[in-house]
Amino acid sequence: MHTLWDRRFAQRTQRMTSSAIRELLKLTENPEIISFGGGMPAPDVFPIEKMLEACQKVLRDSGPQALQYSSTEGYLPLREQIARHTFRYGIPVNPENVLITSGSQQALDLLGKIFINPGDHILVESPTYMGALQAWTAYGAEYVSVPIDKSGMNTDDLEDALRAGPKFIYVLPNFQNPTGVTLSLKRREKLIELADQYGVPIIEDDPYGQLRYEGEHLPPVVVLDDRFRNHTGGCYHGNVIYLSTFSKILAPGIRLAWVIAPAEVIRKLVQAKQGADLHTATFNQVVAHEVSHGGFLDQHIKLIRKVYGERRDVMLAAMDRFFPPEVDWTHPEGGLFLWGTLPRHMNSADVLKGAVEKKVAFVPGESFHANGGGYNTMRLNFSNATPEKITEGIRRLGEVIYERLGMPARVG
Ligand SMILES: Cc1ncc(COP(=O)(O)O)c(C=O)c1O
Repeated sequence: MHTLWDRRFAQRTQRMTSSAIRELLKLTENPEIISFGGGMPAPDVFPIEKMLEACQKVLRDSGPQALQYSSTEGYLPLREQIARHTFRYGIPVNPENVLITSGSQQALDLLGKIFINPGDHILVESPTYMGALQAWTAYGAEYVSVPIDKSGMNTDDLEDALRAGPKFIYVLPNFQNPTGVTLSLKRREKLIELADQYGVPIIEDDPYGQLRYEGEHLPPVVVLDDRFRNHTGGCYHGNVIYLSTFSKILAPGIRLAWVIAPAEVIRKLVQAKQGADLHTATFNQVVAHEVSHGGFLDQHIKLIRKVYGERRDVMLAAMDRFFPPEVDWTHPEGGLFLWGTLPRHMNSADVLKGAVEKKVAFVPGESFHANGGGYNTMRLNFSNATPEKITEGIRRLGEVIYERLGMPARVG
């Protein structure tokens, strides 16, 4: 039935649907549910004391400035701090290359706003982050997808996809959301070469890069691209737009993230952001700067790595113990998620129904696929639940999968 409002909504709203994640987050508000659903940090690692001290200090020392409107680009000392941090990775960026956004989700939306005309194709991994699809679909994006395997985006399939003439490539090189896999160094290099050859920019979304629990750190695509161009000094002007966020290393509730890009792109994003929210909350930026300078954040990230690394191990061990051998899953070296693949004939949305009856939740994999598919896949988050709940939740999930397979569950 069409209401009066339906006829008034703009055409683009027909492509907006509510995200499965949002619906799931509603579900997880029920404390009885063990949720492997959202990408939520563990509440027990939020640095509440440090935030409290910083809020008090900011209000005492610079209250009038922190509570005032501020520039769209973001709080300069924070941008300088991010530029220095990025420099440590090996890219010489200036504050003109940095934009503070209200979460990386806003950065994705603003990128859609400045780049996507209706019908433009975006090259994405399959599966990919559903929040990006949600943002860009509203601007009329279509997708050309490249499958991923245990070493990330399969660059052997990239050239074919590039021939479709995509507007940009969207890649999540580290502990990808949703699969947890990491793009190998060789493939990062191949991606940069091919993107350059076809003249297609890369958007590198990297919320989890600092959350590695094993293995060697790999240079971000933006750094490799800078090296590829033999760039020496001056303002960054490569082919990559790099996104990262405070959400997973500090707290998502402060909605604070950053974009590193050529100054020309930052200027256009600033114009788009003015229309969206004028600027990111001044107070949050000043507090984040206060919290993160002086080495606190580096220490805090070490704690997060320890806690999440243990939780990942607990989840992997529980899956070994309680899941049938017919199920396959990834072994992420970092991040927040792992990815399960059920036998082909099984549907993970159906498994979710059974799981919710047993008070466990996860996200079925289908919604991470831009062009459909993935019905037998599932994303599991291991950062949010305590180790005891992880083991119990996986045990219950194992029971549901055995039930659907028509086999008796393993008791462990
Ligand atoms: C790949 C990816 N990009 C962007 C976001 C959004 O992050 P933010 O909280 O900074 O908006 C997330 C959140 O989970 C994510 O996984």
